[in-house]
Amino acid sequence: MSISKRRFGFTKDGREVTCFTIDNGKLKAEILDYGVTIKNLFVPDKSGKPVDVVLGYDSIKEYEENDGYLGATIGRVGNRIAKGKFTLNGEDYTLAVNNGPNHLHGGLKGFDKAIWGSEERENSIIFSHLSPDGDEGYPGNLKVTVEVILEENGITLNYSAETDKDTLINLTNHSYFNLNGGGSVLNHTLKLNAEKFNVGDGDCLPTGEIASVFGTVMDFTKERSIGNGVDSDEPCVRLSRGYDSNFILNGEGPAAVLKSERSGIIMTVSTTEPGVQVYSANFLTPRRGKNGADYTYRHALCLETQHFPDSVHHKDWPTCVLKKGERFSSKTTYSFNV
Ligand code: BGC
Repeated sequence: MSISKRRFGFTKDGREVTCFTIDNGKLKAEILDYGVTIKNLFVPDKSGKPVDVVLGYDSIKEYEENDGYLGATIGRVGNRIAKGKFTLNGEDYTLAVNNGPNHLHGGLKGFDKAIWGSEERENSIIFSHLSPDGDEGYPGNLKVTVEVILEENGITLNYSAETDKDTLINLTNHSYFNLNGGGSVLNHTLKLNAEKFNVGDGDCLPTGEIASVFGTVMDFTKERSIGNGVDSDEPCVRLSRGYDSNFILNGEGPAAVLKSERSGIIMTVSTTEPGVQVYSANFLTPRRGKNGADYTYRHALCLETQHFPDSVHHKDWPTCVLKKGERFSSKTTYSFNV
């Protein structure tokens, strides 16, 4: 196991960005302190050749200039909050609106754009960030950490947070996975431990309805190719130009298994979170990625473990309220085999 670091570059406003490499001889991850971004994740394929299974860029300039949150940590609240407004303890709050009429992924300057503090451990790095009271409109000084652990066969993200005033929290990672290292993701197969999903509207905001996946293209309870369904007329898929929905996890066993026959790589996602946003990169506009790679829409699958979108407006769903004096913690592991 080795951990090393190098200067990755400087942001437009002159902040230094560091790239950490964690290597255990089998897997190798490169993580930026900018957004606790997973820049590379090398995993051996069926012939033992390392494949970089996440999309990303070669320079900090590209991370700053492009949209899509490639590989980044998302907070305070991942996914959408309707109209960027909510009421907590009788007080009304207004957040930045950055996705049509709604608030998405923490706002205009979310955790993905912060440079986090870092502390190296034996097989992990603990990244920390202080989000001040009023940040993007959220109440409370929030201390948040993400520990990135390189396991023998995977990578674990351990999230924790504390606040000095009741606030909202829903942390995730926005890696774009492609188990062939590039190209269309539609030939991958997916299995989800989910029998229900949140129905979304044209802005991908939950309508409140929770629907059964059975008899629809949302049914991934048995392994199925992503391409089979991505162009269907199922309203949630059609409105989002592909998959972009929160699936409600059954609670026991891995949340998701993504496979590519070509590379032979199988990724298993386990999480303590109650949901996973399955997003087939429908809005990834054509762009240049690492090592001159061409990325375009549907070139990756994001599996964003999370609380349900807009849960602040749905009392019966698992709450994303973090109370003063309580500690938020959550854990997601992506493990790999062939
Ligand atoms: C959202 C998509 C959005 C993407 C990139 C996903 O989590 O659900 O609608 O386009 O993130 O911002």
